[in-house]
Amino acid sequence: MMTKQSTIKAATFIFYCLLWLVQGKPLFPEKEKDPEYWNLWAQHTLVKALKVERNTNIAKNLILFLGDGMGIPTVTAARILRGQLNGHFGEESQLEMDKFPYVALSKTYNTNAQVADSAGTATAYLCGVKANEGTVGVSAAAVRGQCNTTQGNEVTSILKWAKDAGKSVGIVTTTRVTHATPSAAYAHCVDRDWYSDGEMPAEAVQEGCKDLARQLVENIPNINVIMGGGRKYMFPKNMSDVEYPGEKRHSGTRKDRRNLIQEWIDRMKDKRGYYVWNKSDLLSVNPSDADYLLGLFEPGDLSYDLERNSSTDPSLTEMVDVAIKILMKNPKGFYLLVEGLAPMVSDVDQKPFTAILYGNGPGFKLINGSRVNISTVDYQENNYQAQAAVPLRMETHGGEDVAIFSKGPMAHLLHGVQEQNYIPHVMAYAACIGQNKKHCSSGNSSAPSATKASFTLALLIVIPLLLC
Ligand SMILES: *[C@@H]1O[C@H](CO)[C@@H](O)[C@H](O)[C@H]1NC(C)=O
Ligand SMILES: *[C@@H]1O[C@H](CO)[C@@H](O)[C@H](O)[C@H]1NC(C)=O
Ligand SMILES: *[C@@H]1O[C@H](CO)[C@@H](O)[C@H](O)[C@H]1NC(C)=O
Ligand SMILES: *[C@@H]1O[C@H](CO)[C@@H](O)[C@H](O)[C@H]1NC(C)=O
Ligand SMILES: *[C@@H]1O[C@H](CO)[C@@H](O)[C@H](O)[C@H]1NC(C)=O
Ligand SMILES: *[C@@H]1O[C@H](CO)[C@@H](O)[C@H](O)[C@H]1NC(C)=O
Ligand SMILES: *[C@@H]1O[C@H](CO)[C@@H](O)[C@H](O)[C@H]1NC(C)=O
Repeated sequence: MMTKQSTIKAATFIFYCLLWLVQGKPLFPEKEKDPEYWNLWAQHTLVKALKVERNTNIAKNLILFLGDGMGIPTVTAARILRGQLNGHFGEESQLEMDKFPYVALSKTYNTNAQVADSAGTATAYLCGVKANEGTVGVSAAAVRGQCNTTQGNEVTSILKWAKDAGKSVGIVTTTRVTHATPSAAYAHCVDRDWYSDGEMPAEAVQEGCKDLARQLVENIPNINVIMGGGRKYMFPKNMSDVEYPGEKRHSGTRKDRRNLIQEWIDRMKDKRGYYVWNKSDLLSVNPSDADYLLGLFEPGDLSYDLERNSSTDPSLTEMVDVAIKILMKNPKGFYLLVEGLAPMVSDVDQKPFTAILYGNGPGFKLINGSRVNISTVDYQENNYQAQAAVPLRMETHGGEDVAIFSKGPMAHLLHGVQEQNYIPHVMAYAACIGQNKKHCSSGNSSAPSATKASFTLALLIVIPLLLC
Protein backbone atom coordinates (compact mmCIF):
# COMPACT_ATOMS: atom_id res chain seq x y z
CA MET A 1 0.00 0.00 0.00
CA MET A 2 1.26 3.42 -0.90
CA THR A 3 1.24 5.92 1.91
CA LYS A 4 -0.12 9.36 1.29
CA GLN A 5 3.39 10.77 1.61
CA SER A 6 4.93 8.47 -0.99
CA THR A 7 2.05 9.20 -3.33
CA ILE A 8 2.82 12.89 -3.06
CA LYS A 9 6.50 12.18 -3.67
CA ALA A 10 5.72 10.11 -6.75
CA ALA A 11 3.38 12.77 -8.09
CA THR A 12 5.98 15.48 -7.51
CA PHE A 13 8.55 13.39 -9.28
CA ILE A 14 6.33 12.81 -12.29
CA PHE A 15 5.52 16.51 -12.35
CA TYR A 16 9.22 17.41 -12.56
CA CYS A 17 9.73 14.82 -15.30
CA LEU A 18 6.87 16.25 -17.34
CA LEU A 19 8.14 19.78 -16.88
CA TRP A 20 11.52 18.59 -18.09
CA LEU A 21 9.97 17.04 -21.19
CA VAL A 22 7.84 20.05 -21.99
CA GLN A 23 10.45 22.72 -21.40
CA GLY A 24 13.46 20.72 -22.49
CA LYS A 25 15.29 22.02 -19.42
CA PRO A 26 15.75 19.82 -16.40
CA LEU A 27 17.04 22.40 -13.98
CA PHE A 28 14.75 24.98 -12.47
CA PRO A 29 16.59 27.32 -10.21
CA GLU A 30 13.59 27.48 -7.85
CA LYS A 31 13.15 23.71 -7.62
CA GLU A 32 16.87 23.20 -7.04
CA LYS A 33 16.45 25.02 -3.75
CA ASP A 34 14.05 22.33 -2.62
CA PRO A 35 15.86 19.34 -1.05
CA GLU A 36 12.96 17.13 -2.09
CA TYR A 37 13.86 17.65 -5.74
CA TRP A 38 17.35 16.21 -5.22
CA ASN A 39 16.16 13.47 -2.85
CA LEU A 40 13.65 12.24 -5.42
CA TRP A 41 16.21 12.10 -8.18
CA ALA A 42 18.62 10.20 -5.96
CA GLN A 43 15.92 7.76 -4.82
CA HIS A 44 14.95 7.14 -8.42
CA THR A 45 18.58 6.40 -9.33
CA LEU A 46 18.91 4.13 -6.31
CA VAL A 47 15.91 2.06 -7.40
CA LYS A 48 17.43 1.66 -10.84
CA ALA A 49 20.83 0.70 -9.36
CA LEU A 50 19.22 -2.00 -7.22
CA LYS A 51 17.90 -3.60 -10.38
CA VAL A 52 21.30 -3.84 -12.10
CA GLU A 53 22.15 -7.49 -12.69
CA ARG A 54 25.46 -9.06 -13.58
CA ASN A 55 25.63 -10.03 -17.23
CA THR A 56 27.33 -13.44 -17.44
CA ASN A 57 26.59 -14.19 -21.08
CA ILE A 58 29.32 -14.91 -23.57
CA ALA A 59 30.39 -11.84 -25.51
CA LYS A 60 30.14 -12.51 -29.22
CA ASN A 61 31.59 -9.16 -30.21
CA LEU A 62 34.28 -7.07 -28.54
CA ILE A 63 34.72 -3.34 -29.11
CA LEU A 64 37.45 -1.28 -27.49
CA PHE A 65 37.17 2.48 -27.92
CA LEU A 66 40.24 4.38 -26.94
CA GLY A 67 39.73 8.05 -26.22
CA ASP A 68 43.27 9.39 -26.43
CA GLY A 69 43.29 12.93 -25.16
CA MET A 70 39.90 12.42 -23.62
CA GLY A 71 40.45 12.45 -19.87
CA ILE A 72 37.75 13.07 -17.32
CA PRO A 73 37.82 16.89 -17.74
CA THR A 74 37.22 16.43 -21.47
CA VAL A 75 34.40 13.95 -20.83
CA THR A 76 32.76 16.49 -18.53
CA ALA A 77 33.25 19.22 -21.10
CA ALA A 78 31.80 17.07 -23.88
CA ARG A 79 28.75 16.28 -21.75
CA ILE A 80 28.09 19.96 -21.08
CA LEU A 81 28.61 20.85 -24.74
CA ARG A 82 26.20 18.15 -25.84
CA GLY A 83 23.56 19.39 -23.42
CA GLN A 84 24.04 22.98 -24.50
CA LEU A 85 23.85 22.14 -28.18
CA ASN A 86 20.46 20.64 -27.35
CA GLY A 87 19.37 23.88 -25.73
CA HIS A 88 19.84 22.77 -22.11
CA PHE A 89 22.12 24.03 -19.35
CA GLY A 90 24.36 21.06 -20.13
CA GLU A 91 25.70 19.72 -16.84
CA GLU A 92 22.70 17.46 -16.34
CA SER A 93 22.82 15.77 -19.76
CA GLN A 94 24.16 12.25 -20.31
CA LEU A 95 26.70 10.99 -22.79
CA GLU A 96 26.28 7.42 -24.07
CA MET A 97 29.27 6.41 -21.96
CA ASP A 98 27.63 7.90 -18.86
CA LYS A 99 25.03 5.16 -19.22
CA PHE A 100 27.58 2.32 -19.16
CA PRO A 101 26.90 0.49 -15.89
CA TYR A 102 30.51 -0.14 -14.82
CA VAL A 103 33.47 2.16 -14.40
CA ALA A 104 36.95 1.20 -13.28
CA LEU A 105 40.22 3.02 -12.91
CA SER A 106 43.33 1.72 -14.58
CA LYS A 107 46.90 2.37 -13.48
CA THR A 108 48.86 3.40 -16.54
CA TYR A 109 52.56 3.33 -15.61
CA ASN A 110 55.01 1.50 -17.87
CA THR A 111 57.53 -0.93 -16.37
CA ASN A 112 60.28 1.66 -16.83
CA ALA A 113 58.31 4.89 -16.60
CA GLN A 114 55.92 6.42 -14.10
CA VAL A 115 54.24 8.48 -16.81
CA ALA A 116 53.43 6.09 -19.61
CA ASP A 117 53.52 6.56 -23.37
CA SER A 118 51.06 5.17 -25.92
CA ALA A 119 53.32 2.30 -26.96
CA GLY A 120 53.85 0.72 -23.55
CA THR A 121 50.23 1.25 -22.52
CA ALA A 122 48.87 -0.17 -25.80
CA THR A 123 50.97 -3.28 -25.22
CA ALA A 124 49.34 -3.57 -21.78
CA TYR A 125 45.69 -3.13 -22.79
CA LEU A 126 45.99 -5.08 -26.05
CA CYS A 127 48.50 -7.83 -25.20
CA GLY A 128 47.83 -8.19 -21.47
CA VAL A 129 51.46 -7.63 -20.47
CA LYS A 130 53.03 -4.49 -18.99
CA ALA A 131 55.95 -3.27 -21.04
CA ASN A 132 58.59 -0.55 -21.45
CA GLU A 133 57.77 2.82 -22.94
CA GLY A 134 58.41 3.17 -26.66
CA THR A 135 58.03 -0.54 -27.42
CA VAL A 136 55.02 -2.33 -28.94
CA GLY A 137 54.04 -6.00 -28.75
CA VAL A 138 57.13 -7.03 -26.81
CA SER A 139 57.57 -7.72 -23.08
CA ALA A 140 59.60 -5.57 -20.70
CA ALA A 141 62.61 -7.78 -21.44
CA ALA A 142 62.93 -5.90 -24.74
CA VAL A 143 64.89 -2.63 -24.72
CA ARG A 144 63.77 0.36 -26.79
CA GLY A 145 65.81 0.75 -29.96
CA GLN A 146 67.82 -2.47 -29.44
CA CYS A 147 66.84 -4.73 -32.31
CA ASN A 148 68.53 -7.77 -30.84
CA THR A 149 66.21 -7.74 -27.80
CA THR A 150 63.11 -8.41 -29.93
CA GLN A 151 63.37 -12.10 -30.63
CA GLY A 152 61.91 -14.29 -27.93
CA ASN A 153 60.16 -11.38 -26.23
CA GLU A 154 57.15 -11.07 -28.54
CA VAL A 155 53.68 -10.98 -26.93
CA THR A 156 50.46 -11.38 -28.93
CA SER A 157 47.37 -9.21 -28.76
CA ILE A 158 43.68 -9.82 -28.21
CA LEU A 159 43.20 -8.99 -31.90
CA LYS A 160 45.22 -12.09 -32.73
CA TRP A 161 43.45 -14.20 -30.09
CA ALA A 162 40.14 -13.17 -31.65
CA LYS A 163 41.35 -13.91 -35.19
CA ASP A 164 42.64 -17.32 -34.06
CA ALA A 165 39.18 -18.03 -32.62
CA GLY A 166 37.61 -17.39 -36.03
CA LYS A 167 36.29 -13.91 -35.36
CA SER A 168 36.59 -11.03 -37.82
CA VAL A 169 38.94 -8.30 -36.60
CA GLY A 170 39.38 -4.63 -37.36
CA ILE A 171 41.34 -1.49 -36.51
CA VAL A 172 39.96 2.00 -37.05
CA THR A 173 42.02 5.02 -36.09
CA THR A 174 42.34 8.71 -36.89
CA THR A 175 46.12 8.42 -36.58
CA ARG A 176 48.43 6.62 -39.00
CA VAL A 177 47.70 2.90 -38.81
CA THR A 178 51.32 2.34 -37.80
CA HIS A 179 50.96 4.63 -34.77
CA ALA A 180 51.89 3.16 -31.39
CA THR A 181 48.35 2.32 -30.31
CA PRO A 182 47.11 0.34 -33.33
CA SER A 183 50.53 -1.20 -33.97
CA ALA A 184 50.56 -3.02 -30.62
CA ALA A 185 47.64 -5.04 -32.02
CA TYR A 186 49.71 -6.62 -34.80
CA ALA A 187 53.43 -5.80 -34.43
CA HIS A 188 56.39 -6.72 -32.26
CA CYS A 189 58.78 -3.83 -32.39
CA VAL A 190 61.36 -2.37 -30.00
CA ASP A 191 60.77 1.12 -31.36
CA ARG A 192 57.41 2.76 -31.98
CA ASP A 193 59.02 5.20 -34.43
CA TRP A 194 60.05 2.54 -36.93
CA TYR A 195 57.03 3.27 -39.16
CA SER A 196 58.87 2.10 -42.30
CA ASP A 197 62.44 0.98 -42.94
CA GLY A 198 63.09 4.59 -43.94
CA GLU A 199 62.79 5.55 -40.24
CA MET A 200 64.95 2.68 -38.98
CA PRO A 201 68.67 2.74 -38.23
CA ALA A 202 70.60 0.74 -40.87
CA GLU A 203 71.93 -1.70 -38.24
CA ALA A 204 68.43 -2.59 -37.07
CA VAL A 205 67.42 -3.40 -40.66
CA GLN A 206 70.61 -5.45 -41.13
CA GLU A 207 69.94 -7.35 -37.90
CA GLY A 208 66.60 -8.43 -39.36
CA CYS A 209 64.17 -6.20 -37.47
CA LYS A 210 61.04 -5.32 -39.40
CA ASP A 211 59.32 -1.95 -39.63
CA LEU A 212 55.71 -1.48 -38.50
CA ALA A 213 54.10 -1.05 -41.95
CA ARG A 214 55.66 -4.30 -43.13
CA GLN A 215 54.47 -6.09 -39.99
CA LEU A 216 50.97 -4.74 -40.59
CA VAL A 217 50.69 -6.62 -43.89
CA GLU A 218 52.81 -9.64 -42.93
CA ASN A 219 52.14 -10.62 -39.29
CA ILE A 220 48.38 -11.12 -39.34
CA PRO A 221 47.79 -10.98 -43.09
CA ASN A 222 44.03 -11.27 -42.89
CA ILE A 223 42.97 -8.42 -40.63
CA ASN A 224 39.52 -7.73 -42.08
CA VAL A 225 39.36 -3.97 -41.66
CA ILE A 226 42.22 -1.48 -41.42
CA MET A 227 41.34 2.21 -41.62
CA GLY A 228 43.24 5.36 -40.76
CA GLY A 229 46.17 7.31 -42.15
CA GLY A 230 49.80 6.48 -42.93
CA ARG A 231 49.93 5.84 -46.69
CA LYS A 232 53.47 7.09 -47.17
CA TYR A 233 55.00 4.32 -45.07
CA MET A 234 53.57 1.75 -47.49
CA PHE A 235 55.13 3.15 -50.68
CA PRO A 236 58.67 3.14 -52.14
CA LYS A 237 60.84 6.13 -51.28
CA ASN A 238 60.17 9.24 -53.35
CA MET A 239 57.02 7.77 -54.90
CA SER A 240 54.52 10.61 -55.28
CA ASP A 241 51.36 10.54 -53.14
CA VAL A 242 48.11 10.08 -55.03
CA GLU A 243 46.39 12.96 -53.23
CA TYR A 244 49.33 15.36 -52.94
CA PRO A 245 51.39 14.73 -56.08
CA GLY A 246 54.69 16.53 -56.10
CA GLU A 247 54.62 17.31 -52.36
CA LYS A 248 57.84 15.72 -51.20
CA ARG A 249 56.99 15.44 -47.51
CA HIS A 250 54.01 13.27 -48.44
CA SER A 251 55.81 10.89 -50.78
CA GLY A 252 56.79 7.30 -50.02
CA THR A 253 59.38 6.48 -47.37
CA ARG A 254 60.31 2.81 -48.00
CA LYS A 255 63.94 2.09 -48.80
CA ASP A 256 63.26 -1.55 -49.65
CA ARG A 257 61.27 -0.30 -52.67
CA ARG A 258 58.31 -2.46 -51.76
CA ASN A 259 54.80 -1.25 -52.49
CA LEU A 260 52.91 -2.80 -49.58
CA ILE A 261 49.54 -1.57 -50.79
CA GLN A 262 49.96 -3.22 -54.18
CA GLU A 263 51.04 -6.41 -52.37
CA TRP A 264 47.89 -6.24 -50.25
CA ILE A 265 45.70 -5.67 -53.32
CA ASP A 266 47.32 -8.60 -55.15
CA ARG A 267 46.80 -10.89 -52.17
CA MET A 268 43.11 -9.95 -51.94
CA LYS A 269 42.40 -10.51 -55.63
CA ASP A 270 40.07 -13.47 -55.09
CA LYS A 271 38.99 -12.49 -51.60
CA ARG A 272 36.47 -9.67 -51.85
CA GLY A 273 39.03 -7.14 -50.61
CA TYR A 274 38.96 -3.38 -51.31
CA TYR A 275 41.64 -0.71 -51.02
CA VAL A 276 40.37 2.88 -50.81
CA TRP A 277 42.13 6.18 -50.19
CA ASN A 278 39.25 8.64 -50.22
CA LYS A 279 35.81 9.14 -48.75
CA SER A 280 33.74 8.67 -51.90
CA ASP A 281 35.40 5.32 -52.63
CA LEU A 282 34.89 4.23 -49.01
CA LEU A 283 31.22 5.09 -49.07
CA SER A 284 30.75 3.30 -52.39
CA VAL A 285 31.97 -0.01 -50.92
CA ASN A 286 29.02 -2.30 -50.31
CA PRO A 287 29.78 -3.82 -46.88
CA SER A 288 27.78 -6.96 -47.59
CA ASP A 289 30.03 -7.49 -50.60
CA ALA A 290 33.35 -6.88 -48.79
CA ASP A 291 35.26 -9.18 -46.45
CA TYR A 292 38.44 -7.11 -46.36
CA LEU A 293 38.96 -3.37 -46.45
CA LEU A 294 42.15 -1.31 -46.33
CA GLY A 295 41.42 2.42 -46.17
CA LEU A 296 44.33 4.86 -45.90
CA PHE A 297 43.03 8.40 -46.22
CA GLU A 298 46.12 10.53 -45.61
CA PRO A 299 49.90 10.13 -46.03
CA GLY A 300 50.31 10.66 -42.26
CA ASP A 301 47.73 11.11 -39.49
CA LEU A 302 44.17 12.16 -40.33
CA SER A 303 43.20 15.72 -39.48
CA TYR A 304 41.16 16.59 -36.42
CA ASP A 305 37.50 16.32 -37.22
CA LEU A 306 37.08 20.11 -37.06
CA GLU A 307 39.79 20.59 -39.66
CA ARG A 308 39.00 17.57 -41.81
CA ASN A 309 38.34 18.10 -45.51
CA SER A 310 34.94 16.46 -45.43
CA SER A 311 34.84 16.09 -49.21
CA THR A 312 37.92 13.85 -49.30
CA ASP A 313 38.31 12.24 -45.86
CA PRO A 314 35.68 10.23 -43.95
CA SER A 315 34.80 11.01 -40.35
CA LEU A 316 35.54 8.52 -37.57
CA THR A 317 31.81 7.79 -37.42
CA GLU A 318 31.70 6.98 -41.14
CA MET A 319 34.73 4.69 -40.81
CA VAL A 320 33.34 2.85 -37.77
CA ASP A 321 29.97 2.46 -39.47
CA VAL A 322 31.47 0.73 -42.52
CA ALA A 323 33.83 -1.33 -40.33
CA ILE A 324 31.05 -2.72 -38.16
CA LYS A 325 28.89 -3.55 -41.19
CA ILE A 326 31.75 -5.59 -42.69
CA LEU A 327 32.77 -7.25 -39.41
CA MET A 328 29.30 -8.15 -38.15
CA LYS A 329 28.68 -10.54 -41.03
CA ASN A 330 30.84 -13.15 -39.29
CA PRO A 331 28.55 -15.51 -37.30
CA LYS A 332 31.43 -16.02 -34.83
CA GLY A 333 31.53 -12.30 -34.04
CA PHE A 334 34.24 -9.66 -34.20
CA TYR A 335 36.85 -7.65 -32.36
CA LEU A 336 37.19 -3.95 -33.18
CA LEU A 337 39.74 -1.44 -31.90
CA VAL A 338 38.80 2.22 -32.34
CA GLU A 339 41.25 5.04 -31.46
CA GLY A 340 41.09 8.86 -31.50
CA LEU A 341 37.88 9.82 -30.24
CA ALA A 342 39.32 13.07 -29.07
CA PRO A 343 38.89 14.94 -32.35
CA MET A 344 35.14 14.48 -32.07
CA VAL A 345 35.13 16.49 -28.91
CA SER A 346 38.08 18.74 -29.58
CA ASP A 347 35.69 21.64 -29.51
CA VAL A 348 35.94 21.39 -25.73
CA ASP A 349 37.02 24.93 -25.92
CA GLN A 350 33.68 26.64 -25.60
CA LYS A 351 33.40 29.22 -22.89
CA PRO A 352 31.70 27.17 -20.17
CA PHE A 353 34.46 24.57 -20.26
CA THR A 354 37.18 26.90 -19.26
CA ALA A 355 36.04 26.28 -15.72
CA ILE A 356 37.62 22.85 -16.17
CA LEU A 357 41.37 23.02 -16.06
CA TYR A 358 43.94 20.59 -17.37
CA GLY A 359 46.79 19.70 -15.04
CA ASN A 360 49.43 20.84 -17.48
CA GLY A 361 49.72 21.92 -21.08
CA PRO A 362 50.24 24.66 -23.57
CA GLY A 363 47.22 26.65 -22.42
CA PHE A 364 49.21 28.20 -19.58
CA LYS A 365 49.71 31.86 -20.34
CA LEU A 366 50.61 34.87 -18.29
CA ILE A 367 50.20 38.32 -19.71
CA ASN A 368 51.91 41.04 -17.75
CA GLY A 369 52.16 38.68 -14.81
CA SER A 370 48.56 37.62 -14.60
CA ARG A 371 46.34 34.95 -16.09
CA VAL A 372 44.71 35.69 -19.42
CA ASN A 373 41.26 37.24 -19.23
CA ILE A 374 39.16 34.53 -20.89
CA SER A 375 36.64 37.12 -22.00
CA THR A 376 39.23 38.71 -24.25
CA VAL A 377 40.23 35.61 -26.24
CA ASP A 378 38.40 33.76 -28.98
CA TYR A 379 37.55 30.55 -27.21
CA GLN A 380 35.39 29.46 -30.14
CA GLU A 381 38.46 29.08 -32.30
CA ASN A 382 39.37 25.43 -32.95
CA ASN A 383 42.92 25.81 -31.77
CA TYR A 384 41.97 27.55 -28.54
CA GLN A 385 43.85 25.93 -25.69
CA ALA A 386 42.09 25.41 -22.41
CA GLN A 387 43.91 26.95 -19.50
CA ALA A 388 46.34 24.77 -17.62
CA ALA A 389 47.78 25.02 -14.15
CA VAL A 390 51.35 24.13 -15.07
CA PRO A 391 53.20 25.67 -18.00
CA LEU A 392 54.54 23.21 -20.58
CA ARG A 393 55.24 23.76 -24.27
CA MET A 394 53.31 20.59 -25.18
CA GLU A 395 50.96 18.67 -22.95
CA THR A 396 52.12 15.23 -21.87
CA HIS A 397 50.33 12.07 -20.98
CA GLY A 398 49.36 12.33 -17.37
CA GLY A 399 50.66 9.89 -14.78
CA GLU A 400 47.22 9.60 -13.20
CA ASP A 401 44.86 6.66 -13.53
CA VAL A 402 42.51 6.54 -16.50
CA ALA A 403 38.83 5.60 -16.48
CA ILE A 404 37.35 2.55 -18.20
CA PHE A 405 33.62 2.58 -18.95
CA SER A 406 32.25 -0.89 -19.70
CA LYS A 407 29.00 -2.44 -20.81
CA GLY A 408 27.94 -5.97 -21.79
CA PRO A 409 28.89 -9.52 -20.78
CA MET A 410 31.30 -9.68 -17.81
CA ALA A 411 31.56 -5.88 -17.71
CA HIS A 412 31.31 -6.14 -13.91
CA LEU A 413 34.83 -7.64 -13.85
CA LEU A 414 36.03 -4.13 -14.68
CA HIS A 415 35.60 -2.53 -11.28
CA GLY A 416 37.85 -0.88 -8.72
CA VAL A 417 41.42 0.12 -9.44
CA GLN A 418 43.23 -2.24 -11.81
CA GLU A 419 46.47 -2.64 -13.68
CA GLN A 420 46.07 -1.76 -17.34
CA ASN A 421 47.11 -5.19 -18.61
CA TYR A 422 44.07 -6.70 -16.84
CA ILE A 423 41.78 -5.25 -19.54
CA PRO A 424 42.36 -7.72 -22.43
CA HIS A 425 42.21 -10.62 -19.99
CA VAL A 426 38.66 -9.61 -19.06
CA MET A 427 37.68 -9.14 -22.70
CA ALA A 428 39.13 -12.55 -23.63
CA TYR A 429 37.39 -14.20 -20.67
CA ALA A 430 34.07 -12.66 -21.68
CA ALA A 431 34.41 -13.83 -25.28
CA CYS A 432 35.88 -17.27 -24.49
CA ILE A 433 39.04 -16.63 -26.49
CA GLY A 434 42.76 -16.64 -25.69
CA GLN A 435 43.92 -18.08 -22.39
CA ASN A 436 41.61 -19.12 -19.53
CA LYS A 437 38.46 -20.10 -21.33
CA LYS A 438 37.89 -23.27 -19.30
CA HIS A 439 34.75 -21.76 -17.87
CA CYS A 440 33.25 -21.85 -21.37
CA SER A 441 33.41 -25.61 -21.91
CA SER A 442 30.00 -27.17 -22.18
CA GLY A 443 28.97 -29.22 -19.18
CA ASN A 444 30.78 -26.89 -16.83
CA SER A 445 28.20 -25.75 -14.33
CA SER A 446 29.84 -22.35 -14.13
CA ALA A 447 29.80 -21.99 -17.90
CA PRO A 448 28.30 -18.74 -19.14
CA SER A 449 25.12 -18.94 -21.12
CA ALA A 450 26.06 -19.75 -24.69
CA THR A 451 22.49 -19.59 -25.87
CA LYS A 452 22.56 -15.84 -25.62
CA ALA A 453 25.98 -15.43 -27.20
CA SER A 454 24.95 -12.47 -29.26
CA PHE A 455 26.09 -9.71 -27.00
CA THR A 456 28.76 -7.10 -27.36
CA LEU A 457 31.20 -6.17 -24.63
CA ALA A 458 32.03 -2.52 -25.23
CA LEU A 459 34.82 -0.74 -23.42
CA LEU A 460 35.81 2.89 -23.52
CA ILE A 461 39.16 3.88 -22.07
CA VAL A 462 39.62 7.61 -21.68
CA ILE A 463 43.21 8.78 -21.59
CA PRO A 464 43.73 12.29 -20.24
CA LEU A 465 46.03 14.05 -22.64
CA LEU A 466 46.87 13.49 -26.21
CA LEU A 467 50.34 13.62 -27.59
CA CYS A 468 51.97 10.39 -28.59
C1 LIG B 1 72.71 -6.15 -28.91
O1 LIG B 1 72.92 -4.92 -29.55
C2 LIG B 1 73.56 -3.95 -28.76
C3 LIG B 1 73.65 -2.66 -29.54
O2 LIG B 1 72.41 -2.25 -29.99
C4 LIG B 1 74.93 -4.45 -28.31
O3 LIG B 1 75.51 -3.51 -27.43
C5 LIG B 1 74.77 -5.78 -27.62
O4 LIG B 1 76.06 -6.32 -27.35
C6 LIG B 1 74.02 -6.77 -28.48
N1 LIG B 1 73.78 -7.99 -27.71
C7 LIG B 1 73.96 -9.19 -28.23
C8 LIG B 1 73.67 -10.34 -27.32
O5 LIG B 1 74.32 -9.37 -29.37
C1 LIG C 1 64.94 10.14 -53.32
O1 LIG C 1 65.21 11.48 -53.65
C2 LIG C 1 66.38 12.00 -53.08
C3 LIG C 1 66.45 13.50 -53.36
O2 LIG C 1 65.95 13.80 -54.61
C4 LIG C 1 67.58 11.24 -53.63
O3 LIG C 1 68.79 11.73 -53.05
C5 LIG C 1 67.41 9.77 -53.30
O4 LIG C 1 68.46 9.02 -53.91
C6 LIG C 1 66.08 9.23 -53.80
N1 LIG C 1 65.91 7.89 -53.27
C7 LIG C 1 65.49 6.86 -54.01
C8 LIG C 1 65.41 5.57 -53.30
O5 LIG C 1 65.21 6.98 -55.18
C1 LIG D 1 38.91 8.41 -55.10
O1 LIG D 1 39.73 7.32 -55.49
C2 LIG D 1 39.37 6.76 -56.73
C3 LIG D 1 40.27 5.54 -56.95
O2 LIG D 1 41.61 5.92 -57.05
C4 LIG D 1 39.50 7.78 -57.84
O3 LIG D 1 39.09 7.22 -59.08
C5 LIG D 1 38.63 8.98 -57.51
O4 LIG D 1 38.83 9.99 -58.46
C6 LIG D 1 38.98 9.51 -56.13
N1 LIG D 1 38.04 10.55 -55.78
C7 LIG D 1 38.43 11.74 -55.35
C8 LIG D 1 37.32 12.69 -55.02
O5 LIG D 1 39.60 12.04 -55.24
C1 LIG E 1 39.22 19.49 -50.12
O1 LIG E 1 39.84 18.67 -51.09
C2 LIG E 1 39.48 19.02 -52.43
C3 LIG E 1 40.11 17.98 -53.34
O2 LIG E 1 41.49 17.90 -53.14
C4 LIG E 1 39.96 20.45 -52.73
O3 LIG E 1 39.59 20.79 -54.01
C5 LIG E 1 39.35 21.38 -51.71
O4 LIG E 1 39.88 22.68 -51.89
C6 LIG E 1 39.64 20.92 -50.30
N1 LIG E 1 38.91 21.75 -49.36
C7 LIG E 1 39.49 22.31 -48.31
C8 LIG E 1 38.58 23.09 -47.43
O5 LIG E 1 40.66 22.16 -48.06
C1 LIG F 1 51.50 44.81 -20.66
O1 LIG F 1 51.92 45.96 -19.96
C2 LIG F 1 52.49 46.96 -20.81
C3 LIG F 1 53.03 48.07 -19.91
O2 LIG F 1 52.06 48.47 -18.98
C4 LIG F 1 51.43 47.48 -21.78
O3 LIG F 1 51.97 48.45 -22.64
C5 LIG F 1 50.93 46.30 -22.59
O4 LIG F 1 49.86 46.72 -23.43
C6 LIG F 1 50.44 45.17 -21.69
N1 LIG F 1 50.13 44.02 -22.49
C7 LIG F 1 48.93 43.44 -22.49
C8 LIG F 1 48.73 42.29 -23.43
O5 LIG F 1 48.04 43.77 -21.72
C1 LIG G 1 37.95 40.83 -18.90
O1 LIG G 1 37.57 41.27 -20.16
C2 LIG G 1 36.25 41.75 -20.23
C3 LIG G 1 35.92 42.03 -21.70
O2 LIG G 1 36.94 42.79 -22.28
C4 LIG G 1 36.13 42.99 -19.36
O3 LIG G 1 34.79 43.46 -19.37
C5 LIG G 1 36.51 42.62 -17.93
O4 LIG G 1 36.52 43.76 -17.11
C6 LIG G 1 37.90 41.98 -17.90
N1 LIG G 1 38.18 41.50 -16.56
C7 LIG G 1 39.33 41.76 -15.93
C8 LIG G 1 39.48 41.21 -14.55
O5 LIG G 1 40.21 42.40 -16.46
C1 LIG H 1 34.88 -25.01 -15.16
O1 LIG H 1 35.12 -23.62 -14.97
C2 LIG H 1 35.89 -23.30 -13.82
C3 LIG H 1 35.94 -21.79 -13.68
O2 LIG H 1 36.64 -21.16 -14.73
C4 LIG H 1 37.28 -23.95 -13.97
O3 LIG H 1 38.05 -23.67 -12.84
C5 LIG H 1 37.12 -25.44 -14.17
O4 LIG H 1 38.38 -26.04 -14.41
C6 LIG H 1 36.20 -25.77 -15.32
N1 LIG H 1 35.92 -27.20 -15.38
C7 LIG H 1 35.98 -27.92 -16.51
C8 LIG H 1 35.64 -29.37 -16.39
O5 LIG H 1 36.31 -27.44 -17.57
